Amino acid sequence: MGMLINKFKIHNIEIEVVESKKAMGLRAAEMIAERMLAKNDIVLGLSTGSTPLPVYAALIAFYTKKMISFKDVKTFNLDEYYPIEPSNKQSYQYAMKRDLFSQIDIPPENIHFPDCLISDSPVKASRNYEHLIAKSGGIDLLLGGIGQNAHIGFNEPPAQSDSRTRLIELTEETRKINSRFFATIEEVPQYAITMGLGTILDSKEIILCASGTAKSETIYKALWEKPNPNVPATYLQNHQNCRFILERAAAGRILD
Ligand code: PGA
Repeated sequence: MGMLINKFKIHNIEIEVVESKKAMGLRAAEMIAERMLAKNDIVLGLSTGSTPLPVYAALIAFYTKKMISFKDVKTFNLDEYYPIEPSNKQSYQYAMKRDLFSQIDIPPENIHFPDCLISDSPVKASRNYEHLIAKSGGIDLLLGGIGQNAHIGFNEPPAQSDSRTRLIELTEETRKINSRFFATIEEVPQYAITMGLGTILDSKEIILCASGTAKSETIYKALWEKPNPNVPATYLQNHQNCRFILERAAAGRILD
């Protein structure tokens, strides 16, 4: 594959460095498609943000070419703002529908998000989410991004490796970074419900994608700091089946 620049292992983690965001998306989508072909009722953990967009574009292309079907696939998104209406354009449910679900054949009842209406109790919603994940047999493959502060999902530092789905308060840094999707920073919700790190680490396989120089230092710390709550992504070092697919710029510091 011409687009692959480098492939190596740090601790247990397989690292693949590719030349562009498009190549990152294609590589991750190829792996997801392979797993889908091996298990048509696969349970996927999915994330939002800018990073997975090329992955979703490639998955949609595979679906359009009839290479894969999502008819029996179940999805659990990692997180959602709280409180928020699914019809709100800033909600992650809205983004996932726009960027993936409306363009593939997944049945709506197979799509899961934490219940994040103002009327939903976050404690009940979190417990229910864990229950639904367990009932579906657990997450087979989780596609994650990474925040500049090394959060996975919305597990802001400090985050414990055994944390479960829960309500969290977003840090000012995360709200500032996410304000690019809102008119003003005041509009960025202060809370979210996120799968815990423990929930994420229970996934049978994890693919983490990262692109851009802003993630380069974060990726370095995630791989080279001892697992600790202040760099939540360091706990991925303990996972037995985890792969980082990095666009060249995000790998800059580890290739130095
Ligand atoms: P991004 O967000 O993909 O928009 O950079 C990643 C994250 O915060 O997990």
